[in-house]
Amino acid sequence: MIHERGYVAATDGNLSVRLDSHRVLVTPTSMCKGMMVTSDLVTVDLSGEKLSGRRNVSSEIAMHLLIYKLRPDIKAVVHAHPPTATGYAAAGLPLNEALISEVVICLGAIPLAKYGTPGTPELTDALEPLVPQYDAILMSNHGVVTYGEDLLGAYMKMETVEHFAKVALVAHQLGRQQLLSHEEVEKLLAVRRKYAAANSVAPMPPAGNHNGSRPANGDGSRDQAPTGDTAGEARSRRRSAR
Ligand code: 13P
Repeated sequence: MIHERGYVAATDGNLSVRLDSHRVLVTPTSMCKGMMVTSDLVTVDLSGEKLSGRRNVSSEIAMHLLIYKLRPDIKAVVHAHPPTATGYAAAGLPLNEALISEVVICLGAIPLAKYGTPGTPELTDALEPLVPQYDAILMSNHGVVTYGEDLLGAYMKMETVEHFAKVALVAHQLGRQQLLSHEEVEKLLAVRRKYAAANSVAPMPPAGNHNGSRPANGDGSRDQAPTGDTAGEARSRRRSAR
């Protein structure tokens, strides 16, 4: 699906599923995700050592293993380069504004991790502080990673990120952003607690002022994703959300 939808080009992107407490099923490196068959998949242990499969594992395996290590609740990871969201990542812009109610409910803020060379510890170091709190992260000058309780859930988050990026871009082109107010964001937080499809506990995006609207990029700057939460606070919110 990520290939069909144009979220990856050529051999871009990688996916994985946590099979059990010590095995992860991962896509192979340098293979078009639209041409892959089941026997191309590779199984590794939690240190990235290959257990089975005839191909080499994705060069981004360390990113997948980092997410499984930091988030015991996560069973699947999707990494792709959807063009609009990746455009935001290339422009150095997070998708962290309270513009669309469903996105606020399902994902909260979508932060931007600093740039790190793909396949190196630079990339995992950049993601590490964000993984405990968020379920979707823009990766500067690279792409997007999303994760969830199963592969479909992780994929759906990728769709939501790309769709939201398109909507945010249109609002920007129209020259106005009518941000949800603080009160409305608080009400969405209450809705999130009841809504079965929303299991995210990511921090809410910053709200707008009392009437919520402002010119797009009016002051030439964008809010950064809220980073006040510690990983411990995120974990305890995740527990109480269940
Ligand atoms: P792999 O083919 O090694 O999985 O890498 C693809 C990619 O998108 C790197 O960011």
